[in-house]
Amino acid sequence: MCGIVGYAGSRDCSDVLVDALSKLEYRGYDSAGIAVFENGEIKVSKAQGKLEMLRKKMEAEGKPHGCVGIGHTRWATHGEPSDVNSHPHSGADVTIVHNGIIENYRELKDFLDSKGVEFVSETDTEVVAQLLNYYYDGSPLDTIIKTIRELEGSFALGIIFAAFPDRIYAVRHESPLIVGVGDGENYIASDVPAILKYTRDYYLLDHDEIAVLTKDEVRIYDEHKELVSKELMTADWDESAAEKGGYEHFMIKEIHEQPNAINMTVKPRIRDGLPNLEECGITHENIKDFKNIFVVACGTAMHAGLVGKYVIEKLARVPVTVDIASEFRYRSPIVGEGDLVIIISQSGETADSLAALRLAKSLGAKTLAIVNAKGSSIAREADMLIYTHAGPEIAVASTKAYIVQLSVMYLFAFELALAKGRITEEKCRKLTASLLGVPDIIEKILKSSLEKSQYISTKLISADSLLYIGRGLDYALSMEGSLKLKEISYIHSESYAAGELKHGTISLITDEMPVIAVVTQSDLLEKTVSNIVEVKSRGAMVIIISREDFTIDEKAYDFRIDIPAMDDMLMPMLAAVPMQLVAYYTSVLRGNDVDKPRNLAKSVTVE
Ligand code: F6R
Repeated sequence: MCGIVGYAGSRDCSDVLVDALSKLEYRGYDSAGIAVFENGEIKVSKAQGKLEMLRKKMEAEGKPHGCVGIGHTRWATHGEPSDVNSHPHSGADVTIVHNGIIENYRELKDFLDSKGVEFVSETDTEVVAQLLNYYYDGSPLDTIIKTIRELEGSFALGIIFAAFPDRIYAVRHESPLIVGVGDGENYIASDVPAILKYTRDYYLLDHDEIAVLTKDEVRIYDEHKELVSKELMTADWDESAAEKGGYEHFMIKEIHEQPNAINMTVKPRIRDGLPNLEECGITHENIKDFKNIFVVACGTAMHAGLVGKYVIEKLARVPVTVDIASEFRYRSPIVGEGDLVIIISQSGETADSLAALRLAKSLGAKTLAIVNAKGSSIAREADMLIYTHAGPEIAVASTKAYIVQLSVMYLFAFELALAKGRITEEKCRKLTASLLGVPDIIEKILKSSLEKSQYISTKLISADSLLYIGRGLDYALSMEGSLKLKEISYIHSESYAAGELKHGTISLITDEMPVIAVVTQSDLLEKTVSNIVEVKSRGAMVIIISREDFTIDEKAYDFRIDIPAMDDMLMPMLAAVPMQLVAYYTSVLRGNDVDKPRNLAKSVTVE
């Protein structure tokens, strides 16, 4: 959480810093600030609230002018969102911005207190600024190395030293950080979209590496002060990928990008009608003997794992356990040699998912990462890696990342089923053909269900609470529908296995509790419809998202969104789309900040 940026070049950099921060606001948005060298002195401007508040403050009070500076957008951990807790934080000789959490900040603060250091904020970051200041001996590099040895937790730091106005320093430990390389100007940022307007070339900083940037040069050192030579990476998307492109919000843009994202993710991995995952380190030989599979992830990514469980178990007949990463890592999981642990993550930096990956490896399991962010920690540490190619997902609520995670779960299930000899090549070719057909069908759904979804949203906006129900794969999908709706509309929502309702939850049903039922599985149709009738007859307003070829008594529901029919197994990829649209429009109609829902951040790098 939190986004940091830095610039060393020849432009007046306040605007560059704020512009770069605007691409990172998804990481946190409760306050923002910048620090810039103006005529050799560090000038700080910061404000509580979204970046817009900082812009306004600088308009009113004047912005710092200079060509070297750092900036920050915050998701509060230590200390409430306020001007004083906003970054940058300073000691006499040093000013920093920080992403991450310093776990031993109390002890460090006690130590600094005992030395008479005074603090103005409640943040762990100010402790780091003061510790750097305390150890400062005229050599920034030595000071940083000495300081980071004392820090426990996760951090990416952008640092400027008052005595070195031509340069910025950066260091990372767990939290992500890149160094953007331009022509006569260089950058640091928590994520690639921040720099795309200026350059597509960047270095990924590794654990405990320290970068020193001037306008003409980037030097990277390891923790022993040895110079490191690194591969220069090039982002394969341009600035427009991180812009709204005429859409009102990133979320709706990203919903519309789903067909393309699936094509980019799936097409290159299918050859002669069969999955080919060799470039990901996956062959029949190295997956055929897995006895148990664990899928470990958080939030939406975990929901993609739930769909994967149904599909892998059905096709490959291997037992799959799906775990929330924060639970998995603390429940002494029975995992070891011969098991496969799949970690799914859009950002590739989620703290609990990364810890789960490390735990699985330490227990002897093989690991497979399904990750969207290139070069992220989870991508780098897993034994096998399948990148999803969704491009940058800026809206906090995940949509296109989810759909490509699903598409990869299908590909992997097909491959595993083939490797285990559970399906024939002929059957597999049929499945891959269906999967390749999904993007075109989603294009159609985007057109056919848009207005209906908008209309249904008008029926939901005044609800206090609602239920999503479904059976089998529809239940797995309901969980995602429910999460999407609640996180951006702020309407309480739960998902329930339709058959489980009458064991307690049905007592909640009144005419004030709308129910959204997902009905896409042929073998469960009758059973789900019975459950729908049960809630309808108790007064609920019922909305169904169902296959267009299903005949369902009109008296059983109030509103219906139809989606085209295809292989039952692939229906979640289609039904996800109207669910996303309903969540989106409900949030818009309630006047919420759709892309930046309250209290959330895109990249959850704290436990
Ligand atoms: C919800 C959402 C989150 C993420 C979760 C995991 O819309 O986006 O639930 O899915 O925080 O994040 P990643 O996939 O980056 O590990």
